[in-house]
Amino acid sequence: MHKGSGYFITLEGCEGSGKSTQLKMLCAYLEEKGIDAVYTREPGGTVISEKIRSIILDNENKIMSDEAEALLYAASRIQNVKEKILPALESGKTVICDRYVDSSFAYQAYARGLGYDFIYNINEFAIKTCMPDMTLFFDISPERAFERKGGVDTGDRIELSGLDFHKSVYNGYNKLAEKFSDRIVRIDATKSKAEIFANVKANLNRLGIV
Ligand code: TYD
Repeated sequence: MHKGSGYFITLEGCEGSGKSTQLKMLCAYLEEKGIDAVYTREPGGTVISEKIRSIILDNENKIMSDEAEALLYAASRIQNVKEKILPALESGKTVICDRYVDSSFAYQAYARGLGYDFIYNINEFAIKTCMPDMTLFFDISPERAFERKGGVDTGDRIELSGLDFHKSVYNGYNKLAEKFSDRIVRIDATKSKAEIFANVKANLNRLGIV
């Protein structure tokens, strides 16, 4: 966990899971309720981490090795934790982070095949002091997500990886949701926006945030 008195919530899911829409709805809701919240994302969230993000996602960096990619995500994460997430939690704020270490487990450990231990070890600096209180996993298979969106996004290096890659990311998330069932909450993301958000709110309620 972490030593702060605030709540640390992370959002996870495959591409096209509707995570960004729910994040916007969540931000608006917390603001309306007067909750002091900090929003961040990964990779990114601080000036240094955003620079690392642009290296990772740059389509020109096609020859990047899987190991270098995993280390860059971990580097972006530890900077975000030390500079932004932990200080906010220690001052009692709620922190909402769009993706966190579960993305590295799903994408790099499972889908890239680097294995759980390698990803755990390079992320230990961040996660030994800072694990989420709750992780919302927006659960929709890539096939259904792409169908709903009308095709695969081709914006950045990871999005260009193809359907098989995204299917194994999804398998990875399912394994994580089983392994960490106390922390990871499955949100049925095949439902309507309003139904999904009602589920998000119910879970924040359960934790005592709102
Ligand atoms: P982003 O545009 O933020 O994706 P999304 O809108 O789907 O959240 O790009 C982040 C990409 O990086 C996304 O494809 C997931 C991937 N990623 C990893 O592979 N490992 C990680 O540890 C993180 C944080 C993200």
